[in-house]
Amino acid sequence: MNETLERWSSRRAFILAVTGAAVGLGNIWRFPYITGENGGAAFLLLYVAFVLLLGLPVMMAEILIGRAGRRSPAASLAYLAGQAGRSKQWWWLGVFGAFTVFCILSFYSVVSGWSIEFLVSSINGEFVGKTAAEVGTSFDAFLANPRLMTFNHTLFLIMTMGVVASGVSRGLERLNNLLMPLLYLLLLVLAGYAVTTSGFGRALSWMFRPDFSAVTPMVLVQAMGHAFFTLAVGACALMAYGAYMPENQSLPRAAVAVAVLDISVALLAGIAIFSVVFAQGLDPSEGPGLMFVTLPVAFSNLPFGSLWLSLFFLLLLLATWTSSINLAEPMVATLQGWGLRRGYAATLIGTLVWLAGFACVLSFSTISEVDILFGMNVFALFSTIPPEVFLPVGGLLIAFFAAWVMPESAAQDALGIGKTGFQLWRQLLRWVSIPLTLVVLVSGLL
Ligand code: PHE
Repeated sequence: MNETLERWSSRRAFILAVTGAAVGLGNIWRFPYITGENGGAAFLLLYVAFVLLLGLPVMMAEILIGRAGRRSPAASLAYLAGQAGRSKQWWWLGVFGAFTVFCILSFYSVVSGWSIEFLVSSINGEFVGKTAAEVGTSFDAFLANPRLMTFNHTLFLIMTMGVVASGVSRGLERLNNLLMPLLYLLLLVLAGYAVTTSGFGRALSWMFRPDFSAVTPMVLVQAMGHAFFTLAVGACALMAYGAYMPENQSLPRAAVAVAVLDISVALLAGIAIFSVVFAQGLDPSEGPGLMFVTLPVAFSNLPFGSLWLSLFFLLLLLATWTSSINLAEPMVATLQGWGLRRGYAATLIGTLVWLAGFACVLSFSTISEVDILFGMNVFALFSTIPPEVFLPVGGLLIAFFAAWVMPESAAQDALGIGKTGFQLWRQLLRWVSIPLTLVVLVSGLL
């Protein structure tokens, strides 16, 4: 496979594309509910620490490999390994990444389908004047309706694979880039509203006053996994985007910008959601339904509530759309590398993801009690193991490749930074990120 000559049209375009991949369900849906399940502040602080110590340096490593290889992820790994006189079997890391994103996309598409359903409901004004308990009841009814859920899952997957198949993702990135600031603004409005609710004070102390006595190895594993998940790091998905990175751009600066944006979106969503949780006497550890139950209530208390809520779900849908395109891309690129036409590759992947997603849909009704592994049903398994185990393992190997396998000069060129900065990053990767990931993973296993 030859070097690609394609580049993002500007530095800004690259940052926005990576932000599009990073900001999604992870920030607005997953972050609040797993923080809720893990007791709040201590988890939140660990997550931020993991983003800074692991997520960020590994993100640079991942993009750097793509940028130095200028090929699809698997091909870049094989090419760079060959250049360094190492085994081309590093190629398999790209395949592992493709498997990881397959698992993630399967449940991601289902949950994004929930956003479609809630968008339609809020346009129809169905949440007006409802209490949290009432919204909760209709959400449960929706989960118990596999047909409706399958319909939404199918729709979302067609939206995603359609874009990936036609290769017009850049166009969508642009649209997203226009609308992302709007999503941010809406979250600010929501957080502003949260300040006026009776739950705000408790939400703040719950989110920011840590009690580290409750931290177990499993909490560490979850916080670490979420740091990778939210930044879209560890599945070689960003590697694909790095291949198109302009020559004259500082990679560390771009990565820091993305991480800051990503964390702040999560914090804003957390403040908005937990204020409502406490104001309404809800349970923060309510699970995957948390956002879907709290935000309709929060918005319905604002003037023009339905309008705001519809806009919010529309923007959330766009944010998840750009993330899922990034999730699908490495799989399609890998199959393309094996000689399959893009359209066929997208159809094949789409069909397989649909099937796995269908099993996730049924996990809320027909097969909710079927224990696949470790007492988890299909949905629980897919939404837990790939983000919390596969991404850190992938991230570990990516970090190892960039810090120990790649020739130093190639890595420094691709990072686009001076000697001191480069050494700082590399030593951080070698002596902090890699050992820390290993320790947390092993302690979780034990
Ligand atoms: N970062 C995305 C989100 O927060 C999910 C994602 C994970 C995307 C891994 C790509 C790769 O929603």
